Amino acid sequence: MKINRHLILAFALLLIACNSFAQKLGKYNAIYSGIPWFDNNGKVVSAHGANMVKDHGKFYLFGEAHSDTSNAFAGFNCYSSDNLYNWKFERIALPVQDSGKLGPGRVGERPKVLRCPKTGEYIMLMHTDNLAYKDPCVGYATAKSITGPYKFQGPLLFNGEPVRKWDMGTFNDSDGTGYLIIHSGLLFKLADDYKSITEKVVDNKWRGHESPAIFKKGGIYFWLASDLTSWERNDNFYYTATTLKGPWIARGNFAPKGTLTWNSQTTFVMPITGANDTTIMFMGDRWSYPHQASSATYVWQPIIVNGSTASISQYMEGWQINTSAAVVRIIDARNKGINRVNKTGIQYKGNWQHTLSDTVLISRSDQKGDSFSVQYNGTQIGFYGQAGPDGGYARVILFDNKGKAMLHAMIDTYSKYPVTGLRFLSPVLPKGLYTLTVSVLGEHGSWSDKQRSDYGSKGNFVSLEKITVKD
Ligand code: GAL
Repeated sequence: MKINRHLILAFALLLIACNSFAQKLGKYNAIYSGIPWFDNNGKVVSAHGANMVKDHGKFYLFGEAHSDTSNAFAGFNCYSSDNLYNWKFERIALPVQDSGKLGPGRVGERPKVLRCPKTGEYIMLMHTDNLAYKDPCVGYATAKSITGPYKFQGPLLFNGEPVRKWDMGTFNDSDGTGYLIIHSGLLFKLADDYKSITEKVVDNKWRGHESPAIFKKGGIYFWLASDLTSWERNDNFYYTATTLKGPWIARGNFAPKGTLTWNSQTTFVMPITGANDTTIMFMGDRWSYPHQASSATYVWQPIIVNGSTASISQYMEGWQINTSAAVVRIIDARNKGINRVNKTGIQYKGNWQHTLSDTVLISRSDQKGDSFSVQYNGTQIGFYGQAGPDGGYARVILFDNKGKAMLHAMIDTYSKYPVTGLRFLSPVLPKGLYTLTVSVLGEHGSWSDKQRSDYGSKGNFVSLEKITVKD
């Protein structure tokens, strides 16, 4: 009895401690694309090439863990959320193995988890490879509970042979059948236990067509894919069919041409089914090599489906979704209760060039160590700036009134075309006095693809267009 009371007291104290900890770190009130997200521990969410599973009313996000230095497999992370805005780090669902296909110095990409309706087991499929991408293979891992740990089982076999392919995705049809989707338009049906392949459903023999994803709405199947440009963004496209065997009809791009899929590459499509509707959520990666862990971000947008047409014609910087009703509401971080801070309140250090363009003052610098800071009294701060072909990395630090760094982020301002947008938004914090400092790192993202073509930025510029603070 005594022990029980003590236990209850200790548990209550722990809950209070956890709550105040979480409160200090703050929360987001919407899905914001293209900015770092902070998990419940204040760390940047690292889950790229992701997929999402809804299980017992909760959303689980699985993705590549990544490091900031190389592309070697760093494990697959698992996060959970009730509202899709705030993510709790659950665990490394599949860690780097001691040896073998997902051992040290190997590549592991695009983890996709499915719950097998027949066995109740959780099956994770993934692309395994060597660092030169010359040993591609689809592997699988299994777990009894959704968060894992997943046990790597080796290659997924079809007629006793491994599938020696790279970009892959999965699709669960409404009848419970599981499918493996492969680049170039290949689709395989999984066995009842999802641990092998029983049938090649279709081989479209498309050229490239990486990062494949399939979803179904109104009896129509939609197949999304990217072009073959490594981590560089391109205008992704889609096909539709009334059966998975096809014929698959080319429908063009689903985001406006030239936006390069709003600067992202498809990874998964998640239907959010509520009482009133189903919102189809596109999930894309805005890669940032070599700093994928810190600076790659997420582009999640509702896809509007009308018959056989799928489109993301408007980019929503921030949007809310009521997950039980699946109803979407746009949040504009610029206009909603956030005031512009007077330019004189910004302290510039170093060699910033201030240019007036169309009544907007743009401040830019590419000098390592140059910075701007703003002290504010409020609950949330964000800043807008240009991203462009000469965009580089910036370090963002948010200090509390005692000068303690509360949040760190490294943001990438590279884009193949110039575009202004939200570069950073803090979570909502308790009202108080804070200082935001943004400094130029003097570095930029660049990389070579599987064919050794070069991509990425040509400069180290960081730019500021405006700062927004919420009271
Ligand atoms: C992309 C692919 C990514 C990754 C990258 C490496 O085309 O979609 O998953 O493999 O190439 O260059």
